[in-house]
Amino acid sequence: MKRFLTGLQPTGSITLGNYIGAIKQMVKYQEEYDSFIFIADMHSITVPQDPETLSKNIRSLVATYIACGVDPNKNTIFLQSENIYHANVSWILECNTPYGLLGRMTQFKDKSQKHQNFMAGLYTYPVLMAADILIYDSDYVPVGKDQKQHVELARDIAESFNKRYGKEFFKLPEPLIPEEGAKICDLIDPTKKMSKSAENKKGVIMLLDDEKDIRKKIMGATTDSEMIVRYDIETKPGISNLITIYHELSGMTISQIEEKFKDSNYGTFKKEVADLVVSVLKPIQDRYYELINSKELDEVLDAGKIKTTEIAKIKYEELKNIVGLYR
Ligand code: AMP
Ligand code: TRP
Repeated sequence: MKRFLTGLQPTGSITLGNYIGAIKQMVKYQEEYDSFIFIADMHSITVPQDPETLSKNIRSLVATYIACGVDPNKNTIFLQSENIYHANVSWILECNTPYGLLGRMTQFKDKSQKHQNFMAGLYTYPVLMAADILIYDSDYVPVGKDQKQHVELARDIAESFNKRYGKEFFKLPEPLIPEEGAKICDLIDPTKKMSKSAENKKGVIMLLDDEKDIRKKIMGATTDSEMIVRYDIETKPGISNLITIYHELSGMTISQIEEKFKDSNYGTFKKEVADLVVSVLKPIQDRYYELINSKELDEVLDAGKIKTTEIAKIKYEELKNIVGLYR
């Protein structure tokens, strides 16, 4: 079985867009791959973080993923910071990565402009990411477009390391750009992607919003004056977005949805969309609150720590031998 590995940064809450566009795909992948999912908490401290908030977000993200159906029996779930070998491997890789290569990373160029007095970790960030990937002989790394360059760098680092030491030691990973999951748009401005950083929160459904808020947001979604439930992204972006949400959560096709609501007014349609969203999110929320302070969550992370530490220790010992760090 091919191995897949991905890291998630513990930054803030998850939206309905993240759930439909990313998490649902991950739940699908767990059936096909030997899948490793970790919280890239060490990556998140490359920019300033409030310690208490960071710690809460780490737990919250793990609970969210499991609540959404990422099954701890089918995935190895762990925290990057709990496996000491990531940083150790990263150091050896840093000593095998040309300085100039890192300056070319688009994300570094962007973030180093945004943060005054940025730290060295922001620059070496892609090498830690290469370590995350290469330690586990990962075949595939599913990432969004913005991280593709970093996976390619990991591949370059692996290739030049193998060449330099004359061994096929690191497996060359491939970025896996997930098939276009549906794009969910903002309910107020349906020409924009639904995003947690939107200024107007009325257009954004958070996974943990309560039922009243979810209903209010959907009932307040921007529509048009045609009064027909019909999919047309150009002239009816608001209604089309609601149809997409309905399609993604019900499994019905767009034309089945148009047929079902052909005699409904927008109020009736919106109410049905809200009913569906609530019925999907309610069990996820119940499971989330059951998990968040549970021992079960700690047991999943403990098991992940033990399993991945064993794998990483072997890789690290071999790596030390190859570069001459032995006595
Ligand atoms: P972000 O929250 O922007 O870091 O994105 C994390 C993942 O969620 C990425 O795979 C995105 O493609 C996906 N995602 C974020 N927002 C949306 C959205 N509105 N619709 C669909 N997918 C999304
Ligand atoms: N840099 C990734 C992000 O910001 C997170 C990440 C860290 C990652 N290590 C990784 C993703 C290894 C895939 C594989 O989203």
